[in-house]
Amino acid sequence: MNSTPRARPAVEKMSGYTPGEQPLPGQTVIKLNTNENPFPPSPRVIEAIRSLDPNRLRRYPNPTADEFRERAARLLGVTPEMILAGNGSDDILAIALRTFLAAGDTLAFPDPTYSLYPVLAEIADITVNTVPWDADWTLPTAGLIGTGARAVFFANPNAPSGTLVAPADVRALAEGFAGVVLVDEAYADFADTNCLGLLRTCPNVIISRTLSKAYSLAGMRFGYAVAAPALVAEMMKVKDSYNCDAVSIIAATAALDDQTYARMTWDHVRAERQRLAHELSQRGWTVIPSHTNFLLAACPGGKAGDLYRALKQRGILVRFFDKPGLDDKLRITIGTRAENDALLAALPG
Ligand SMILES: Cc1ncc(COP(=O)(O)O)c(C=O)c1O
Repeated sequence: MNSTPRARPAVEKMSGYTPGEQPLPGQTVIKLNTNENPFPPSPRVIEAIRSLDPNRLRRYPNPTADEFRERAARLLGVTPEMILAGNGSDDILAIALRTFLAAGDTLAFPDPTYSLYPVLAEIADITVNTVPWDADWTLPTAGLIGTGARAVFFANPNAPSGTLVAPADVRALAEGFAGVVLVDEAYADFADTNCLGLLRTCPNVIISRTLSKAYSLAGMRFGYAVAAPALVAEMMKVKDSYNCDAVSIIAATAALDDQTYARMTWDHVRAERQRLAHELSQRGWTVIPSHTNFLLAACPGGKAGDLYRALKQRGILVRFFDKPGLDDKLRITIGTRAENDALLAALPG
C-alpha cells in the first residue's frame, strides 16, 4: 500500500513563488534583475565575519539577535523591544502573516505589489483580495478598507513600480483600517521619506526592512520588523527559535555600523537612477519615476518579452513580468555605471 503522499490541497493548487534568475557560480552576466546593490558590503562587514569567534558557530545563536536589535534601535530612534530580526524580510512577512491571520481570513493588497504576498497567503489558506492602484499609483485607501480584510500588506516604495506613497496617505489608511497594516520598506533607503514616524501614533502599523538591498547583503539573508512592542512580542512567539544565524547577526550589525559606506552606495544608486531614466526616456521609453534601486519602464513598441530575451542572449538579465499591465515593461535594477552603460549600449535604436 505504498502510495505517494498528497500535499495539502492549497499547496497542490499553487505554483509557488518564482524568484528572479540567479547565475551559476562562475557565470558572468550583467545582473540587473533582482534589485541587489551594485556595491559589495562594507569592508567592516567582511572584517567582522573574518574575526568571528569560532565559539559563536559552535553554540546556538542568540535567539532574538539582541546585538542587532540594540544597534538598529539606536539607528532608528526606537527601543530594542520594537525590533524583530528575521532571516531576510521574506521571513518577517511570513512571521507577520502567521501571527495575525488564520486560514479563512483575508489579506488585502494593492495590485501590483510584491508577488510573494499572494504566495504566502495561498500556503496558509488565506483569501487574497487585491485592489488596483488608483491613478498615478495613489494608494486605493477606500478600496483597501472596504475589503474588510484582517491585514493589508504593501511595499512602499512599491515593487515593481518603484513608486512612493507619502506617509500621510499611509497614516490615513492605518487610521481607517481595523487590522494590521504592514508597510514593506525593502527599498525605503533609496527614497526621501519613510513611515517610521507613524509608529508613534498608529499601533496597527508594522514596518518591514531588509539588509538585502541598501546594505548589499542579499546573500546573507537578514531583515527586520519595527512595530509596537506588543506586536513584536506576539511575532516573537511565532518565529522559528533561531531564525537568524550567528554569522548573519554580526554581519548585519556591522553593516548598520557603517552608515557612511551605505550612504555612499545609496547616493550612487540615486545618481545612476536619474541618469538611466533620462537616457531611456531619450530613447523613447516611458519611465515611471522611481524611489528605489530599479526602474519600471515601458519599452518603445511594447515588445518587452522579446527585448528581455534578446538582452538575456547578450548576457544582460533584467526582470520581465508576463502579466497584463506589466508585459509591455521591463524592471531594470540600477547597476554600476559600467553595467548601466552596457545595458544602454545593448538596447536597440
Ligand atoms: C518589496 C520587497 N520586499 C521584500 C523583498 C525580500 O527581501 P529579502 O531579501 O529581505 O527577503 C523583496 C525582494 O526583492 C522586495 O522586492
